Amino acid sequence: MNNIKVKLVAQFQPEHKAIILPILQTEELSVELAQIAETFGIDALLLQSDFKADLKEIHSFYSTDNQKVILLGLGKKSNSSEIIRAFRTLIHQHKSKLPNEITIDARKLPETWIEFIVNGCFLGTYDLRLYKTDEKVSIPLLGNDGVLNVLTESKNAITFIEKGKAIAETQMQIFDLMNAPANKKSPHTLAKWAVASGEKYNYSVKVLERQQLNSQKLNALLAVGQGSEHAPMLIIMEYHSPKAKQTVGLVGKGVTFDTGGISIKSSTNMHLMKSDMGGAAAVFGAIELAAKLELPVHLIGIVPACENAVDGKSFKPSDVINSYSGKTIEVIDTDAEGRLILADGLSYLTRNFKVDTIIDLATLTGSCIATLGYYAAGMFTNNDELADTLTEAANQTGERLWRLPLWDVYKEDISSDIADVRNYSGKPMAGAISAAKFLEVFTDNHPNWAHLDIAGTAFGDTDFAPQRAGTAFGVRLLVDFLMKI
Ligand code: BES
Ligand code: MN
Ligand code: ZN
Repeated sequence: MNNIKVKLVAQFQPEHKAIILPILQTEELSVELAQIAETFGIDALLLQSDFKADLKEIHSFYSTDNQKVILLGLGKKSNSSEIIRAFRTLIHQHKSKLPNEITIDARKLPETWIEFIVNGCFLGTYDLRLYKTDEKVSIPLLGNDGVLNVLTESKNAITFIEKGKAIAETQMQIFDLMNAPANKKSPHTLAKWAVASGEKYNYSVKVLERQQLNSQKLNALLAVGQGSEHAPMLIIMEYHSPKAKQTVGLVGKGVTFDTGGISIKSSTNMHLMKSDMGGAAAVFGAIELAAKLELPVHLIGIVPACENAVDGKSFKPSDVINSYSGKTIEVIDTDAEGRLILADGLSYLTRNFKVDTIIDLATLTGSCIATLGYYAAGMFTNNDELADTLTEAANQTGERLWRLPLWDVYKEDISSDIADVRNYSGKPMAGAISAAKFLEVFTDNHPNWAHLDIAGTAFGDTDFAPQRAGTAFGVRLLVDFLMKI
């Protein structure tokens, strides 16, 4: 983990060798550019020639004191995620082209943006090349003496800096978890991560291992995990602020690799299924940050974790399995495994805790990707107020949600002739909705439940990696949501 120092500074110093000037697109742009030219002793005409301050636009020059000055356009009405991305991209693209000390002038920006600047700069240093043994490149800010100077007059700057940094540090750990390949993560790896985080940030973590899963009858989770050499686990996390006003339960799908099981997936994109624990990762990030930022909430995080593997011992299509709730499930397709383990996670939550709100997150269906692509997650809830609060958090953080229906007409898709429910309709339509209807069966009619299908957003196409990579989708969304309630 990197160790970047963030310092507050009152004005530019000659020893600041790399200066970033974020510029908003306003009517006064040309006046501002003229002032900048004067400050740094360069020709105003040169500077004004083509810089429009569009979002992410970059223009750099050297001052007469040989300082590298970078103008970073922030556009007209950018939201927090756009601001974060602008800074993240700047740092990311300037690998080895910036020194270890960078100074950012935040004086003309709203003070709340200090959080986004710091968050973006930290994320920009993320190094995807976890398992490379050669070609070490130097990354700005990442030397032993990495320093980010923030030029501001805000009295609250420290708070915003701390928040931006705290969130980025957790997000980067979530990236690592998501980007880890199947042979480097198992349910045990996830459990270990949670235990370490709980110790560090002082929240409680309990892990149910195979024996306890057996005695407590988490049969759906056991069924999905039975073909893997890695034992399934249920990870239970609890953070209780003394100032809590509400109890929120989060449930995250933690499939460390999804082969599809006996209903095996085609090989084309199977390697991407290392990211099938994106829901778990979001829950981990949210609970760690709630504890780190001491949010006034009582938060329960439940992660059913397992591997969906192919083996002689694997569960099979046609199996009728039991679940923690007592309901029986006919398995039509072993690749619809996420909803099975979430069924146990959701009923474990409602049976053992009294919660005001339930949110589950899961990389649940290809159908959701077909519907919304990589730009938004599907949201399912019968509670309009919860939908509104989540949507507001989504719009503010740029971790977008789009509501899809939970109408009872879709219940037909999961009715079974021989068991209480079946896990797949067998039809290639409305797959994200029937999966949500399946989950609903295990929520004990909770009036304040939302399901987020993050299949398309958890492991996405980004500007920061040549191929798809972990996004930590849900972490900022949930933190923002928890701060709203
Ligand atoms: N983990 C997958 C969903 C998924 C697909 C996530 C692509 C991310 C990218 C899930 O377990 C799955 O296999 N769903 C099946 C369900 C079907 C068999 C009913 C699907 O969506 O095809
Ligand atoms: Mn699957
Ligand atoms: Zn899956």
